[in-house]
Amino acid sequence: MPKIPYNSPVKRTLGIKSGFYAMIRLGNIELDAPFYQAPLSGYTERPMRILARRFGAPLTFTGVLLDKIALHQKAIRKLMFLPGEDEHPVGAQILGADPATMAKAAAVFERIGFDMIDLNFACPAPKVLRRKRGGYHLKQPHVVIEIIDRVRDAVSCPIGMKLRMSFDGDEYSQEDFRHICEHAHRRGVDMLTIHGRMVTAKYRGRADWGIVAEIKHAYPEMTVFGSGDLMDAETICRRIETSGADGVAIARGAIGNPWIFAEARALLEGGEKPPAPTLQEQGSVMLEHFEMIRLHRPERKAVAFFRKFVAGYCKRHPKRKKAQMEIIAAKTQDRLIEAVRRWYDLGGS
Ligand SMILES: Cc1cc2nc3c(=O)[nH]c(=O)nc-3n(C[C@H](O)[C@H](O)[C@H](O)COP(=O)(O)O)c2cc1C
Repeated sequence: MPKIPYNSPVKRTLGIKSGFYAMIRLGNIELDAPFYQAPLSGYTERPMRILARRFGAPLTFTGVLLDKIALHQKAIRKLMFLPGEDEHPVGAQILGADPATMAKAAAVFERIGFDMIDLNFACPAPKVLRRKRGGYHLKQPHVVIEIIDRVRDAVSCPIGMKLRMSFDGDEYSQEDFRHICEHAHRRGVDMLTIHGRMVTAKYRGRADWGIVAEIKHAYPEMTVFGSGDLMDAETICRRIETSGADGVAIARGAIGNPWIFAEARALLEGGEKPPAPTLQEQGSVMLEHFEMIRLHRPERKAVAFFRKFVAGYCKRHPKRKKAQMEIIAAKTQDRLIEAVRRWYDLGGS
């Protein structure tokens, strides 16, 4: 596949449909496809990240991690926090209220092997907002600016930041958003990801991609990614093309659906979507996903955790509802494996 250097003016005129897209450079990280696996708290642990990478995500992220956790040596040494040798590049996303603690946490995550640090200024969860973290920061741009500056000075790896388009849509909140983008640009933030919803909207309504286009247009040399409502490969291509963003963050669309990365790659390269995975392939991936979860969780917890992915996987099943109901009803590992094998034609155990 022909590659055009990042930010080449040729990129936009050729357009994605012709099979060209830019190699994206984030500091020392090179992305050979214009998307990444978005951070998804409670989902993007190592097993989901490994599958995303295998199916074509050039970069993945942890779910958001509280900065203070990094200050507890014992907690951080736990295997589940450490990036695996086989999953680079992988970024850690952090959340916090205090710039100094955010900077310390960023340095710890870089030291234990993460390739990139992403700063969360987007999370809309009430308990996060109450503690002046995540999306709350959109109300206090001076703190965001201090966090960016402190983190920039504390690490040598690339840094990214995830922003919602405003806190609640009022005029000042929109101004604050632009002020933050301006500073991100000036301080050389390596990747800005914009989720086109207000913090107060949580996940309601449709994401506004106009704001992604506007910020990319305002800062053409900044790497801008968009996020929101990317549930299939066609939408991913269309959004990249029409927003002018350098790339997109694939989030809910990848839950129980690692094939979305291969499909998006194929379309972006100008080819056809690959044939849908066979039932057996789907079942094998599900079982492998479960086995990876099981490595770090006792049986009951692993079975419960895996349930979160089942609806996603079953979307491709011709008898989706029944398959999903039976697999979710399984309370033990043996029952779960048996149900997946039966619904996905994998023969006896
Ligand atoms: C269950 C769930 C967990 C999420 N966790 C995170 C997170 O840890 N960090 C983050 O920046 N965004 C998080 N997000 C937001 C997504 O990364 C993404 O921006 C959002 O879902 C919009 O994209 P989508 O509509 O394509 O899913 C989460 C979203 C969901 C639904």
